[in-house]
Amino acid sequence: MSVDGSFDRRREQTQAITAANGNGVLVSTSTATAMVSTHRLKLNPNTEHKPDSYEDLSLTLKFNPLLFSCLERYLPPSIISASRDSKAQFMSDILLKYSPEGERIRAQRHKDYKQKIITNYQQRHKELYSMHATNFFVPSFLKAIHENTEESLRSIMAEPAPGIFTFDMLQPQFCDMLLEEVEHIYKWVCDTNCKIMRPNTMNKFGAVLDDFGLDNMLDKLMEDFIRPISKIFFPEVGGTTLDSHHGFVVQYGLDKDVDLGFHVDDAEVTLNVCLGTEFSGGELFFRGVRCEKHVNTETQAEEILDYSHVPGRAVLHRGRHRHGARATTNGKRINLILWCRSSVFRELKKYQKDFSSWCGECQREKKERQQLSISATKEELLKKDGESAS
Ligand SMILES: [Fe+2]
Ligand SMILES: [Zn+2]
Repeated sequence: MSVDGSFDRRREQTQAITAANGNGVLVSTSTATAMVSTHRLKLNPNTEHKPDSYEDLSLTLKFNPLLFSCLERYLPPSIISASRDSKAQFMSDILLKYSPEGERIRAQRHKDYKQKIITNYQQRHKELYSMHATNFFVPSFLKAIHENTEESLRSIMAEPAPGIFTFDMLQPQFCDMLLEEVEHIYKWVCDTNCKIMRPNTMNKFGAVLDDFGLDNMLDKLMEDFIRPISKIFFPEVGGTTLDSHHGFVVQYGLDKDVDLGFHVDDAEVTLNVCLGTEFSGGELFFRGVRCEKHVNTETQAEEILDYSHVPGRAVLHRGRHRHGARATTNGKRINLILWCRSSVFRELKKYQKDFSSWCGECQREKKERQQLSISATKEELLKKDGESAS
């Protein structure tokens, strides 16, 4: 403990000195905290300023490089034109002040884990690792995205229950390629005896594609294809501001996960596409959208939907749409899942009390309250009418 403590302090002091030198800001280096407390961002961004890219420093920075590019415009004038290293140092100091240590250690461990995989894993289909839209998607989907209107998107979609959209999305060749890559991942995991992190607590046989280097491609998928759709169909749950994702595959079969219990996703919007192969069973069942408070309330008849997967066809729904998967009774089924999240929505949700626009139960309660108030008003009026008549 004392070793760690003194090491940390030494490192912080070195950082303080570097920052002071690089920025030309005269600060006391006697304690790191004294220095960091002088670090301030500006309230309004300098919109004229062109931020540096920090992508190539992703291995050394403790936070996402994009965060640094975003923060740059808020740097005080004395720092904004300093060297990139100095700016990175200044911003790191500020970010460290607000980031809990446990979370930071977890993030660092995950970064190391991912780096280990990326260095050792040999990709099978390199063309999967960056976005090639015309090779990945069916023409009808590309056309609708390109036109980017509610009408064009609706023309390729079915909405079997409110808020659940299904549409043809992936080309069979793409599905096959991704299936081969997934097989290759599983084989590598087995051969190297690598203990991989599973996508979530419910799937024992899935793999996180982001950890295997597919994160950039999946980010593009979210930004250029899922966000435009979510902007139109899910604006009230942050569909317009989706800014991060968790991308993984799940595998079902008699010797794998068989089914998936009733749950909600840790996502604002979920994309679920069946990649194949031959299977029977495995239907998804949906039971209405619920906020945290109402997650265990009863399902209304109109909220019940059972959906059978078709390879290449996507299902898009709010993460809070309660669902599960029935048993895959034969064969093997692999699905690509993309949980899309919005940091803006999550922040706003902390201050929001009324979820009536998207929670089925909040809506029902609101309607009930309105009915009661209408009946009370009616009764009041009738009473007044009666009194005036007599
Ligand atoms: Fe799910
Ligand atoms: Zn609710």
